[in-house]
Amino acid sequence: MDPNTETSFNIAEPNVAHILASRPLADKDFKRISEMVYSLCRINLHDGKKALVQARLNKRLRQLGIDTYPEYLELVQSDDTKRELTYMIDTLTTNLTFFFRESDHFDYLRDEVLKKIDPGKDKKLRIWSAGCSSGEEAYTLAMVAREALPDLDRMDALILGTDISTRVLAVAREGSYPEVRFRDTPAPLRNKYFEKDPARPGFCRAKSELARLIRFRKLNLMEPWPMKQPFDVIFCRNVMIYFDKQTQHELVQRYFDALRPGGVFMVGHSESLTGIQHRFRYARPTIYIKP
Ligand SMILES: C[S@@+](CC[C@H](N)C(=O)[O-])C[C@H]1O[C@@H](n2cnc3c(N)ncnc32)[C@H](O)[C@@H]1O
Repeated sequence: MDPNTETSFNIAEPNVAHILASRPLADKDFKRISEMVYSLCRINLHDGKKALVQARLNKRLRQLGIDTYPEYLELVQSDDTKRELTYMIDTLTTNLTFFFRESDHFDYLRDEVLKKIDPGKDKKLRIWSAGCSSGEEAYTLAMVAREALPDLDRMDALILGTDISTRVLAVAREGSYPEVRFRDTPAPLRNKYFEKDPARPGFCRAKSELARLIRFRKLNLMEPWPMKQPFDVIFCRNVMIYFDKQTQHELVQRYFDALRPGGVFMVGHSESLTGIQHRFRYARPTIYIKP
């Protein structure tokens, strides 16, 4: 899938033409932005992304009362706290996600991994949602694990959700989503694991039996990973699509090393490991096993 189709930005927004016109982004400034983003998180903002970058950042320039991109870039680079850089990365990442996205992965997880666990013997379960965005993937994993393993509380089970964007992680930690976001979630599961959020009409929030299975952490996948224990399952779906082949290659080797033997690695439906040298055994399209 073309990552452009994944954006939540809508070019038809009424004031976009005005915004674009008011703060033009010169090619040299776009190049500086793409170099900064690439060197920090390896997201590849090619020339076709210029309008998207401009539309997303213009809003920020307006908020800050800044008129030109050179001034804005000066601010980003001179800010020792890296606050503005964080904001810029937050704005430029594409975070589309939803509950039970690419649901056959969760069927495979239930039937081929979780159902084969014996909570009496297998004490630990570690699942990683790498590039978890606003958390729907991690909460889906938690629902599927609870359903497949009624004895889950006897185990030391943990689902880790990580992302580079602080903005989406805040939503994930909150665990409260508008009701419409549950359209792909079977109603009995939604009712069992989510409750009406008393603080936000029209929102449902994760019940504690779900939320307590999950930890959300900020992690740039390009930096060293602090996790020491091997994972049973890693989901890295619709994330590597934004990286170039070399970066994908490096990441896939690191995921391999982070899994236990027999562990399962899943990528998004529009991704594959074709063209990447790796040591995984192919199980099904987009599903790989560490021998
Ligand atoms: C399209 S979302 C995918 C969400 C979810 N995995 C899914 O498939 O529904 C991609 C996520 O990858 C994150 N991301 C991009 N580059 C990253 C990096 N270098 N390190 C960590 N996360 C990154 C983005 O912030 C974004 O939230």
